[in-house]
Amino acid sequence: ERGEYRHYMLKEIHEQPQALADTLEGRISGGRVLTQILGVDADALLAQTEAVHIVACGTSYHAGLVARYWIESLAGIPCTAEIASEYRYRNPVVRPGTLFVSISQSGETADTLAALKLAKARGYLAQLAVCNVPESSIVRESSLVLMTRAGPEIGVASTKAFTTQLAALGLFALAFAHAKGLDEARYLDGVRQLEQLPGLVAETLKLDAEIEALAADFADKQHALFLGRGTHWPVAMEGALKLKEISYIHAEAYAAGELKHGPLALVDADMPVIAVAPNDALIDKLLSNLEEVRTRGGELYVFADHDVGSRVDDSRTLVMPACGEIAAPVVSTIPLQLLSYHVAVLRGTDVDQPRNLAKSVTVE
Ligand code: F6R
Repeated sequence: ERGEYRHYMLKEIHEQPQALADTLEGRISGGRVLTQILGVDADALLAQTEAVHIVACGTSYHAGLVARYWIESLAGIPCTAEIASEYRYRNPVVRPGTLFVSISQSGETADTLAALKLAKARGYLAQLAVCNVPESSIVRESSLVLMTRAGPEIGVASTKAFTTQLAALGLFALAFAHAKGLDEARYLDGVRQLEQLPGLVAETLKLDAEIEALAADFADKQHALFLGRGTHWPVAMEGALKLKEISYIHAEAYAAGELKHGPLALVDADMPVIAVAPNDALIDKLLSNLEEVRTRGGELYVFADHDVGSRVDDSRTLVMPACGEIAAPVVSTIPLQLLSYHVAVLRGTDVDQPRNLAKSVTVE
């Protein structure tokens, strides 16, 4: 039931602290990820894994892109993330020692399921499913399973499924990286960030009223550009997808470093530019990209980490809690969900049932 909430999407956005806590429950102990989360043999399997192929669609693909950054940077193991409808038709090359990972909220997405079936014939070490529906086809076809525990997601636009996918993939990346010899301090810090996620997300949800006020600026816009770097590039992609899906505003996401290679030509006073600015190694580069937008008269909206906020000289800056590399993409997603929700409400669209879209895409 929607209860006090006007839409399922809003309810599901606000359920995220609980959904994240549920997804982490019983999977961390004494500050460490329990390696049994993937099943009993996972230790030996992770030790053998020399490459990871992640396959998914839509929002779940964006979770895979974030995980790819984590896996390469923490575990030092090559990782690709790919759209299932491309993977399944392109004859992927699979070297020995490769783990296949599918990500799906429903567990029934036709392209993801077909990719998994193809993968089973391609000599992967194992097929891991990160999924929200225990009795789904994708779970049944996989040899390893890591469930997200988001609970039923009714809104067509995915919210809590995405952030719980990130939490599950964070657990996986840290467990895997630990098996591959990740520096102990960085490992423990990553696990601590996961444990802090429910609280950090609850804190970020308090920005709701401020974001609702910003939404008025977008209601009459035709286009929007989302920018990020590193793990925040896929977060920007997810922000653009949410805005497209429910408000029908054309939105694109770019890695901020690509601005000069084309999209800067679009920037003018009618083009809102939304940037996610975590406090990471690339922040100085991002801030200089934003300066380029500002000097072209672009309307800039910045969702900034607490420690970055004071460096962004703009009234349309929203300050989020300070976060590390694992928590930041999850936390940064929250304001983007709220922004697209409020813009859609102002535009009077059917938020929970956007036109032309289905919750579960069981045909190609
Ligand atoms: C976007 C959205 C879709 C799904 C995609 C994959 O808000 O919901 O892009 O993410 O259809 O669905 P699952 O995760 O069920 O495989």
